[in-house]
Amino acid sequence: MSTMAALLATILFSSLIAVFSADISSKIGVNYGRKGVNLPSPYRTIETVRSMNVGRMKLYDSDHEILKLLSGTNIHVSTMIPNNDIIRIASSQAAAEQWVQSNVLNFYPDTMIRFVLVGNEVLSHDRRIWPSLVPAMRRIKNSLNAHDIKNIKVSTPLAMDVLQSTFPPSSGEFRSDIRDTVMAPFLGFLNGTKSFFFIDAYPYLAWSTNSRNISLDFALFRGRVNQTDHKTGLVYTNLLDQMLDSVIFAMRKLGYPGIRLTIGETGWPTAGDADQVGANINNAATYNRKLIQKMTAKPALGTPARPGAVIPTFIFSLYDENQKPGPTTERHWGLLRSNGMLVYDIDITGRRPLSSYKPLPAARNNVAYRGKLWCEVAPGADASNLTSALAYACRQGNQTCAALSPGQPCYEPVSVFWHASYAFSSYWSKFRKQGATCYFNGLARQTRSNPSRGHCNFPSVTL
Ligand SMILES: *[C@@H]1O[C@H](CO)[C@@H](O)[C@H](O)[C@H]1NC(C)=O
Ligand SMILES: *[C@@H]1O[C@H](CO)[C@@H](O)[C@H](O)[C@H]1NC(C)=O
Ligand SMILES: *[C@@H]1O[C@H](CO)[C@@H](O)[C@H](O)[C@H]1NC(C)=O
Ligand SMILES: *[C@@H]1O[C@H](CO)[C@@H](O)[C@H](O)[C@H]1NC(C)=O
Ligand SMILES: *[C@@H]1O[C@H](CO)[C@@H](O)[C@H](O)[C@H]1NC(C)=O
Repeated sequence: MSTMAALLATILFSSLIAVFSADISSKIGVNYGRKGVNLPSPYRTIETVRSMNVGRMKLYDSDHEILKLLSGTNIHVSTMIPNNDIIRIASSQAAAEQWVQSNVLNFYPDTMIRFVLVGNEVLSHDRRIWPSLVPAMRRIKNSLNAHDIKNIKVSTPLAMDVLQSTFPPSSGEFRSDIRDTVMAPFLGFLNGTKSFFFIDAYPYLAWSTNSRNISLDFALFRGRVNQTDHKTGLVYTNLLDQMLDSVIFAMRKLGYPGIRLTIGETGWPTAGDADQVGANINNAATYNRKLIQKMTAKPALGTPARPGAVIPTFIFSLYDENQKPGPTTERHWGLLRSNGMLVYDIDITGRRPLSSYKPLPAARNNVAYRGKLWCEVAPGADASNLTSALAYACRQGNQTCAALSPGQPCYEPVSVFWHASYAFSSYWSKFRKQGATCYFNGLARQTRSNPSRGHCNFPSVTL
């Protein structure tokens, strides 16, 4: 009887919390990235998102058409100040006030703006902005306060690279170059304003760069082996919890044990290049479906270090963004394809039992490829665009195109397609370690079959 009473009290208490802090409902959010051509219009996008029961939307800007279209919906909105506006806003309360007037007051409260995010992954990029980050957040908050707006919080999404140690979770620690100068005042701000720490946490990235040591099942929430953090005795069933707890331990070390987390971005790509492991529909559907179930569970599950905590979660991303440069995964994080169709079935509310989904296509690239790769012209590439790409590759120096000169082994056939294929392979093999990719704006693709002919040997990348 007394345990029953305690249980009832807990349930009552948690529903009271739910009533008083609507901001921490467990409704799943999506990131609305728009680096794509021919994406559905904002109007259609918001219709789709509503029909999917998405509870929150995070923008990478403060697009006025989108903010307007979101008015009258019950979608909670996170809007963002671009990185290149941060220094200006940090240096002037008038600039902050003007930003708030134009991007918040014009839409709020009809549009349920709940977060203003100051920049995106600022501490992974341009150092010049770092000293301005917290001052800009303070100015925006001051401005919101001056208008007596209490239910919009200010934060900034950070990437996992703000940590210098993540494993085991109890060793979590912020990078020494930002710890005292940025993280300490940042946490002070979040704590003082009861805001959330937005962390972009990708088990896919942690697993794919170390896929021989971390089990895929552990990354996909279907581990059969648990991992114990021997320093704390906490038992982990999945990689995401380990990543989140490493942030929590890092915050504790700076004296802030109570700041709540939001997952600003997480997800899994549905397609990748030959040198990218595990990017497929099977894994992506498994990850996102199980993520949603975990994050919408009632009562909330939290993490081993914070059992029961509600962690608002934004999936990356709503759409495949076909204009993103770099490796193929970059263009395949979407729940929806660029044409607006679902890539795989998914229930954002988390109520649908996993067993009711249709079987998924088999995962064919879950083991890292070992062998040689070349970079060749992609089918359908346009000749005049290839001419510029060829010139670009050859300009990078280091004899990239020496074999293409008259009299050299790869000169013939004299065709832009042949020369570009050679130049792409040569460029990629020479500069891959410095971050060069085999993409060339869609003109190039990786291949496992050697394009060399006769005496012309194509340089390769060995994995
Ligand atoms: C964080 O906020 C809590 C609640 O307002 C407060 O009790 C605590 O002193 C703050 N911590 C620090 C280190 O300022
Ligand atoms: C991964 O495993 C290899 C060999 O099993 C080991 O040498 C290496 O240190 C491990 N790497 C990490 C990051 O644990
Ligand atoms: C792993 O931990 C979970 C949750 O603590 C528990 O339910 C499960 O039985 C454990 N599995 C194994 C294999 O120990
Ligand atoms: C050439 O590249 C430009 C810029 O990426 C693109 O807009 C154009 O459609 C391409 N031309 C063709 C024929 O593919
Ligand atoms: C150019 O090639 C030389 C010799 O192969 C190599 O040592 C050097 O690192 C290369 N430079 C770049 C920028 O790749």
